[in-house]
Amino acid sequence: MPSIAITGSTGQLGRATVTHLLDRGVPAADLVALARTPAAADDLAARGVTVRAFDYDQPETLAPALDGVDRLLLVSGSEPGRRIPQHTAVIEAARTAGVGLLAYTSILNAETTRMQLAAEHQETERLIADSGLPAVLLRNGWYTENYTRTLDQTIEHGALVGAAASGRVGLAARDDYALAAAVVLAGEGHAGRAYELSGPAITLAELAATISTVAGREIPYRPLAPADYEQLLVGAGLPAPVAAIFADVDVQIDAGALEHDGDDLERLIGRPVTPVADTVRAALA
Ligand SMILES: NC(=O)c1ccc[n+]([C@@H]2O[C@H](COP(=O)([O-])OP(=O)(O)OC[C@H]3O[C@@H](n4cnc5c(N)ncnc54)[C@H](OP(=O)(O)O)[C@@H]3O)[C@@H](O)[C@H]2O)c1
Repeated sequence: MPSIAITGSTGQLGRATVTHLLDRGVPAADLVALARTPAAADDLAARGVTVRAFDYDQPETLAPALDGVDRLLLVSGSEPGRRIPQHTAVIEAARTAGVGLLAYTSILNAETTRMQLAAEHQETERLIADSGLPAVLLRNGWYTENYTRTLDQTIEHGALVGAAASGRVGLAARDDYALAAAVVLAGEGHAGRAYELSGPAITLAELAATISTVAGREIPYRPLAPADYEQLLVGAGLPAPVAAIFADVDVQIDAGALEHDGDDLERLIGRPVTPVADTVRAALA
């Protein structure tokens, strides 16, 4: 088996991807968990996975850490505004190290979306194309967990609040996207492909109805004007730029940015995506 490395392996998507690779029978000896904080990957090391330090902000250390790596999953950085220098450093290191396949977690509809959050993904896709590296784009839609993360507050508040009106958002569990990444990394024939990965698209009112059913109490969807939603988020303690990004997400949901007709995710993982109700149930458990 070629050697497979995963960045952000101590994060939720990266760790789940490593776990799926192991579950699918990829030998631990063929896996390299790249971590900003290697000690946080001790559990992976205990399973026989090689752990190496890999901080996107330390460009000179990256190519040596990719020594012997054939396939690399670049999990997009988690700090909007910092991702271009970070991703540039990783792509350059991959080239220097002679990586044979670079997989990147991009955003759904990257070719057309106007979402503010997408700009760095679009630029990263361009950088990857310019690098000449064989690559595969995993254009991930929204995690259902983006909504279930704050489910307690939603239920306490008695309503799901947002700024989208009747737009629909394709939702799948984070673990579905991780499994898709593992399938691509361990499989063949993915170089040059761009996968639009998403679950069935639903409105936020439909999401609220699912939450209501699972929670056993009525949690309606309460749409606000984008500016009011942004103010609400600032009032709840979010930094203003982050609140603006979240409001923009909902405006773009209404523009269709997070909805995609297609079954790339189901086909890659070989089963239906995790039902939204299951993720809601897990969050409430
Ligand atoms: N599609 C969606 O709905 C959605 C939602 C949220 C985020 N995302 C994107 O998808 C990515 C993965 O999601 P996730 O749920 O796994 O996020 P996460 O749990 O926050 O994990 C992010 C990972 O990136 C690593 N990282 C951040 N900055 C780094 C740096 N400078 N050098 C090396 N590693 C760095 C983190 O390292 P540490 O463990 O050391 O912190 C962590 O392992 C996110 O980073 C974000 O770009 C997508």
